[in-house]
Amino acid sequence: MLREFFEFMIFTAISGSARLASTNTALLQALALVQSSDYTVKVTRDHFELPIFNPDREGENTPQSVEQFCSVIEQSDGLIISSPEYVRALPGGLKNAIDWLVSRSEILNKPVALAHASHRGDDMLSSLRLVMSTVTSNFDEEHFLSIPMMNKTQGEIEEALLTSDNQEKMVEFLDGFVGFVGGRG
Ligand SMILES: Cc1cc2nc3c(=O)[nH]c(=O)nc-3n(C[C@H](O)[C@H](O)[C@H](O)COP(=O)(O)O)c2cc1C
Repeated sequence: MLREFFEFMIFTAISGSARLASTNTALLQALALVQSSDYTVKVTRDHFELPIFNPDREGENTPQSVEQFCSVIEQSDGLIISSPEYVRALPGGLKNAIDWLVSRSEILNKPVALAHASHRGDDMLSSLRLVMSTVTSNFDEEHFLSIPMMNKTQGEIEEALLTSDNQEKMVEFLDGFVGFVGGRG
C-alpha cells in the first residue's frame, strides 16, 4: 500500500547484545522475517568485530572492519537498534560502534528508530535516545517497538514473537518507520 509513495527500503538492524540467545537480537531477527514489498530488514553483526574506537585510527588509518561497517550503514535507508541495558548504560560494543560513526558522514542524516526486548532498561533507553538524537538529524522518536522478553527461553521467545498481537506490532512499527523515512523534508 505504501509502495506507490516510497521506494523499496533496506533497513539495517543492530543489536546491542552479542549473546547468541539474545532477546534483542531475536526481536530484530523477527523483524527481518516480516514480508513486505516496501522494505526489508537485515540484521548485522559487523559491529561486534570492531576494534576499540581510537581517534588516531580515523581518516586514512581507519581499520578495514570499520570501513566495512560504515559502508553497510551508508547503504541503509534506516537503522533499527535494539539493546539491553548493561550497568544502567549502553553496552560497550554498541557505544563503540556509534563512536566510530560519529565524526563520519554515514550517520549524519540517517533515520534511526529503536526497539527494545525488556521491561527494564529505562536508563539505557534514555541515554540511547540522547545519543541518537545527537549523532543524526533524523532520529525517529515516535516509532518505538517494545516486546519485553527478558529471561524467556528460546521456545518462549519464538512463541512470544509469533503471537498475532506481536506480529501486528512489528508490522505497525515498520510501516510507521517507512512513513517517517519516506516523509522526511
Ligand atoms: C553485564 C550485565 C549488566 C546488566 N545491567 C543491567 C542493568 O543495569 N539494568 C537492567 O535492567 N538490566 C541489566 N542487565 C540485564 C540485561 O539488560 C537483560 O537481561 C537484557 O534483557 C538482556 O538482553 P539480551 O537478551 O538481548 O542479551 C545486565 C546484564 C548484564 C549481562
